Amino acid sequence: MPTKITFESKRVYGAVQRLLHLSVAGAVLVLMITGWGAQLLENRQVLRATSKVHLISGYLLLALLALRVLWGVVGPASARSGDFWHPHQWRLALFNQMKPAFRWGHDVRASAAYLVVYLAMLGLSFTGLGLAATEHDQGFTDFLRSWFDDVRLGEWFEGIHEVLALGVALFVFVHLLALWLHERFERTPKIQSMFTGFQYKPIQGEQLNDEIK
Ligand code: HEM
Repeated sequence: MPTKITFESKRVYGAVQRLLHLSVAGAVLVLMITGWGAQLLENRQVLRATSKVHLISGYLLLALLALRVLWGVVGPASARSGDFWHPHQWRLALFNQMKPAFRWGHDVRASAAYLVVYLAMLGLSFTGLGLAATEHDQGFTDFLRSWFDDVRLGEWFEGIHEVLALGVALFVFVHLLALWLHERFERTPKIQSMFTGFQYKPIQGEQLNDEIK
């Protein structure tokens, strides 16, 4: 007979954090579609328009990342950079000694992936700025071109940009899969938290866990 679970709920993620998550996720999806989709296009005009949308979404992503960093310093506890930083728990997880435990805010293991993906997105934005200047002669980064020509970083940047893009795509796949698996096996609402702000802590039933914080 299935066990009935009761939950305690709390609004954890504020409106700014949720809006930033939605905008970053949207910008990343548009960048992927316009970046990889462009390789299938043959019509020159459509190709030019697609690359413009890619460039603008890249600038937007950079601005959103800057806002996210600022919010990580001045925002509420659940948005602060400290909510992502759990080196002790990560060490325990590495040796399979971490007790699965509920905490309000970001999942302990997932937060390591969030930090890495934020760094990857920053790397993508900066290499994208370099490529816009050297390869496409677009954007306000013209001043970089002579410097890139001198040190021939343009080709390197293209490779790094492509590897980081694959990494971020892999993160999105694992992120969505992990959220779905969490809901399915822990039987706790999770996916909706970045839309509604609410998290649910199981307080009765087979899932009772200790709280970390
Ligand atoms: C329908 C799509 C998505 C849903 C439902 C979703 C849902 C969520 C949820 C529930 C969390 C919080 C998890 C936790 O408590 O640990 C989260 C965090 C996060 N997600 Fe997503 N996500 C989606 C797409 C994406 C995409 C495309 C990206 C692109 C990189 C992304 C990047 C992140 C990041 C960086 C965080 C940490 C957020 C923060 O700064 O506070 N997500 N997401």
